[in-house]
Amino acid sequence: MKKITEKQIYTSVIGILLIIISGGAYYYSDLYQKKISLELRVSELEDTLGITEENLSQKEEDLLAEKERVGSLAEEVQNIVGTVGILDKLSKTDKELLQKYSKVYFLNEHYVPSNLSSIPLVHLYNESVAQQIHSRVWPYLEDLILAAADDGVTLWINSAYRSFGTQSTLKARYTTVYGSGANTFSADQGYSEHQLGTTIDFTTKGIGGGVDGFEKTPAYTWLLENAYKYGFALSYPEGNAYYVFEPWHWRFVGQELATYLHKTNKNFYDEDQRKINEYLVKIFD
Ligand code: DAL
Ligand code: ZN
Repeated sequence: MKKITEKQIYTSVIGILLIIISGGAYYYSDLYQKKISLELRVSELEDTLGITEENLSQKEEDLLAEKERVGSLAEEVQNIVGTVGILDKLSKTDKELLQKYSKVYFLNEHYVPSNLSSIPLVHLYNESVAQQIHSRVWPYLEDLILAAADDGVTLWINSAYRSFGTQSTLKARYTTVYGSGANTFSADQGYSEHQLGTTIDFTTKGIGGGVDGFEKTPAYTWLLENAYKYGFALSYPEGNAYYVFEPWHWRFVGQELATYLHKTNKNFYDEDQRKINEYLVKIFD
């Protein structure tokens, strides 16, 4: 048998080792390639994710901006709806109700309030002469009379709505008696607040159903302190520019305007008509 020399063994071992080493090298180089390509993929994915996050936050910003835009649009629509509502209400409110008459503006002979209600006889001083009032003012007047009664104050109505014709007859009668002096206490037809249906002449106990001495009665004191709560204002206080002092003559101007006049101690006729008109839309609120 051929003897295997040491050299042969040595060569074989070297050969085997070379095979193992080159196999391993190949294996590791393959792994290394895979690692590199995986790292590349990870970095690509990270890039993609970065872009996506950026897109996402951009989209969120866009969404917020859009929400804000829709919000302010809704607010604008709401404002327009509100304005339309006010204009609609105003168009249905008789603009004459807060005009200054009394020698300033004129109501023609055809002007009649939109709705008139009969005042219950129990509230009239003279039950044989029927009286009417603007239907939307009556609830305020009734509340006023009942509140006064609760405080022990009697208020009767002497005169309320007066048509153009009635005022004309009345003025002619006064003129016959007092001549031009009638102009100091009686309006010409077309210039009386009574034609609006919103104005009342009161009387009370102790003065015989008239007007003389009304300023000294508890009724007048009560009206001065409370009438504004029911929307009424004194048209002709002492020293006014139009007529003599008429403590019995109260005009409905709405609670808001009456309260303003009361709190500021101002008179209806001293205010600017444009300022007064701002209260028209709320006159029956
Ligand atoms: N007495 C008031 C001024 C009127 O006649 O209307
Ligand atoms: Zn009057």
